[in-house]
Amino acid sequence: MTIGLAIVGAGYWGPNLVRTALATPAIRLDWLCDLDIQRARAVLGAHGTARATDSYDTVLNDPAVDAVAIATPAASHFDLVRSALEAGKHVLVEKPLTASVAEGEKLASLAQRSGLVLMCDHTYCYTPAVQRIRELIRTGAIGDIQFIDSVRINLGLVQPDVDVLWDLAPHDLSILDFVLPEDVAPVAVAAHVGDPIGAGRACLAYLSLWLSNGALAHVHVNWLSPTKIRTTVFGGSRRTIVWDDTNPAGRLAIHDRGVDTLPAGALARDERRQALISYRTGDTLIPALPEREALLSVMAEFSAAISNRRPPLTDARAGLRVLTVLEAASRSVDLGGARTALNGVAE
Ligand SMILES: NC(=O)c1ccc[n+]([C@@H]2O[C@H](COP(=O)([O-])OP(=O)(O)OC[C@H]3O[C@@H](n4cnc5c(N)ncnc54)[C@H](O)[C@@H]3O)[C@@H](O)[C@H]2O)c1
Repeated sequence: MTIGLAIVGAGYWGPNLVRTALATPAIRLDWLCDLDIQRARAVLGAHGTARATDSYDTVLNDPAVDAVAIATPAASHFDLVRSALEAGKHVLVEKPLTASVAEGEKLASLAQRSGLVLMCDHTYCYTPAVQRIRELIRTGAIGDIQFIDSVRINLGLVQPDVDVLWDLAPHDLSILDFVLPEDVAPVAVAAHVGDPIGAGRACLAYLSLWLSNGALAHVHVNWLSPTKIRTTVFGGSRRTIVWDDTNPAGRLAIHDRGVDTLPAGALARDERRQALISYRTGDTLIPALPEREALLSVMAEFSAAISNRRPPLTDARAGLRVLTVLEAASRSVDLGGARTALNGVAE
């Protein structure tokens, strides 16, 4: 089965969807739609037979179109996704799923009722590195998660419609959602933000997340850093994974180094303080990872979910879980950085 696809949005990210859709055998790109038709034409160039349009109605009324991929600003996602689902089209939508949990819930249930695929492009979940991290965590290879520390800072475009939390933290939050064991999830957040350039929105943010197993995670996102750092540390009771996404020669390092503790009962009272903690220094393993572009895997997953009538790996529910954390984080900012439960109540 070949899937007729229309892509909406030919700005910064849309052209990547165009390129990877054209490289996916199960997909036939029919349309590229943008309010700015010249932009859509320029992106398509001489590529194949896809047509440019500035009319979303034309796309939705075309019976050859089975699915729509949306790469427009977050505030427009809700209306565009809803219209597509109502027209009977499967949807791949960029992160964040919508601009609020309430909107996301409506879309998730509409997709479910209609029997249509609604997939969120949580791109990083399709990188070989994150897939290996998920395997290492979920098979117990690193033991229990004790802490997570994620830094994603760079000189980034100050977005006109969202702050840095809603622009960049969806990456970290979708990764956490993807790799954490199924019974471990955030229960509360606290967020602190800064806007030192007077942009009118947060340009840097520090987000703490308390996890249901007692572990603490931290996410640092920033548009103003002259150096690019994309490093996440997953600290486990047996091993620690360090993921440096800027280092293609060794993106992942698995350290058999850490802190061991002895059960308190095993020691006499006066020995306890010194002997409870010991440091372990073992080997570091750099696993060989396949080089595969994540967006090609996103396209493959979207088309497989449609063909097999199954939920995609990053479905609307995954998008909703990310939104729930983002909304609680924004609430925490409004509350001056207070620890806030995921239902928005300060604790
Ligand atoms: N997955 C990733 O790694 C990743 C990376 C960057 C951006 N994104 C996401 O992609 C989306 C788009 O971001 P961008 O940086 O490409 O934005 P952008 O502003 O560069 O481009 C958006 C395009 O959408 C068009 N557009 C807006 N409303 C439209 C409508 N109603 N109908 C048709 N066209 C419309 C605009 O004319 C523009 O060309 C955002 O949700 C963003 O978060 C994802």
